Amino acid sequence: MPEREEPVRLAIFISGRGSNMKTLVEACLDGDVVAKPVLVLSNSYSAAGLEWASEQGLPIAAIDHRAYDDRESFEKDVQQTLELHNVEFIALAGFMRVLTSWFTEQWEGRMINIHPSLLPKYPGLHTHKRAIEAGDAEAGCSVHWVTEGVDEGAVIDQERVAIQEGDTPDTLAERVLEREHILYPRALAKAIEDFLDREAEDEAEA
Ligand code: GRF
Repeated sequence: MPEREEPVRLAIFISGRGSNMKTLVEACLDGDVVAKPVLVLSNSYSAAGLEWASEQGLPIAAIDHRAYDDRESFEKDVQQTLELHNVEFIALAGFMRVLTSWFTEQWEGRMINIHPSLLPKYPGLHTHKRAIEAGDAEAGCSVHWVTEGVDEGAVIDQERVAIQEGDTPDTLAERVLEREHILYPRALAKAIEDFLDREAEDEAEA
């Protein structure tokens, strides 16, 4: 991997519990990922994960999307906050807002998301219910690059989970979440490596 004086400045976006965010922060602190969490941002003041992040001494920001007339004006304030913290890379971790192309285009190649299905199967919501109802033998989770289409970007890595007889969406979600916590730090490390390779290539060409 190319040498770089400073770790990549990472923002993690959440909307609720934040258990994936926690695993990413811990992976950065353990040195498993060459990134430094510099901001945890939520679209909800009541996201439980914000409290944990602030207890770790991480900068947090809550920007309530309901205070805005449209998605883009919300995103403009989000963008301003990211610039204030000199963010270079974004990991969406249970962030429940659809982002417009205005936002995704400027972060393309620098923003990833975790989704609780084996993409390209089941983009969108209710993934576990849909997998059970379809009679699938397995479910899982994917980390992918974020593009304009929801859950459509190239998959970086996945983890698979067998669907058991009698599984409900809740029991399956619980087992998939355990895998998400293994998958996301590993996929973030890969994505950051890819980002640094591209940065080094750009510098070599300049
Ligand atoms: C995870 O299952 C994630 O895949 C989905 O929302 C859930 C968020 O959980 N998009 P947490 O906030 O990371 O605990």
